[in-house]
Amino acid sequence: MPLQQALQQEAERLHKKLVNVGYNEGYCKIIAPLTLKIEQLKKEKNAVVLAHSYQTPDIVYSVADFIGDSYQLSIAAQKTDAEVIVFSGVRFMAETAKILNPSKTVLLPAPGAGCSLADAITGEDVRALKKKYPGKPVVSYVNTTAEVKAESDSCCTSSNALKIVESFPGDELIFLPDKFMMQNLQEQTSKKLIGWDGTCIVHEDFSADKIDWFRKQHKGVKVLSHSECPPSVTHASDYVGGTNGMIDYVEKTEAPSFMIVTECGLADRMRVEHPEKAFIGMCSLCPYMKMNTLPMIEQVLRDPKEGQIILVDEDVRVKAEKALMKMFEISNAS
Ligand code: 13P
Ligand code: SF4
Repeated sequence: MPLQQALQQEAERLHKKLVNVGYNEGYCKIIAPLTLKIEQLKKEKNAVVLAHSYQTPDIVYSVADFIGDSYQLSIAAQKTDAEVIVFSGVRFMAETAKILNPSKTVLLPAPGAGCSLADAITGEDVRALKKKYPGKPVVSYVNTTAEVKAESDSCCTSSNALKIVESFPGDELIFLPDKFMMQNLQEQTSKKLIGWDGTCIVHEDFSADKIDWFRKQHKGVKVLSHSECPPSVTHASDYVGGTNGMIDYVEKTEAPSFMIVTECGLADRMRVEHPEKAFIGMCSLCPYMKMNTLPMIEQVLRDPKEGQIILVDEDVRVKAEKALMKMFEISNAS
């Protein structure tokens, strides 16, 4: 196909997907050469792009081979045959992909894409906690560094945290590092959870007052909040869970409108995938998630730089892999 025609087709494909989230024809024409170049590089390098639902829609609906929550993406990383994984997300997610795929090249387009939860606790902190509470199992949220995972008995994600916590024998365990997720979980389990003081800078700022205000303006609205939100917010919500759970809830529920209390990328994803439903109000941007861009994805595929190539010390990797495999084992058990 002649180049001009291929570019026109690509711009039209992008615009059809992105029009509901504010991307105009001009924008789609400008990014079309880039998305085609990325597709070509993916073939040349035998690469896949895994994208978290919080990524910008121009990434999600142009070059991503798989879109999902932390759990789905870790499974996709485990299953892929590609030699190169470009992780359009944050560092702990790319590290998880590397832990599961030591022989593959895992690339993070924006090297500074961190996470306030992952930054909240170190391996040394976990070793100190284990000394303070000897014999207590350690469950760490997947939003942690490889070093923290390596010190844990199991990882968990927002989609399986309760199942993982409940699966451990004994009536007390350490759950880290998200204090709000721990408080939300504590209301659902009889086990005593020993927590840590980490928070997500996006979810800690939502407030129940705003939910009340929106409920008054939009009769019948269903409010969905992420389990990283403070209990005052989750108590004011109709559904509490991870990003994939929120998508399922919206798909299965009839309501005049939905308010998606999490990072804005998820509501954008729903607006694209469910144009027949109405989404209102409150969301917030994660500065880390939004660091990745299409030009960075092109560059990292073509010529990855130090910092964009994920490396994990082999001793740490082996221990962290055990904690991730434990999570898969418990999650898959009936
Ligand atoms: P999910 O696993 O629910 O997608 O959450 C990831 C995350 O970073 C939430 O802030
Ligand atoms: Fe981390 Fe919060 Fe950003 Fe998720 S939204 S990556 S938990 S800072």
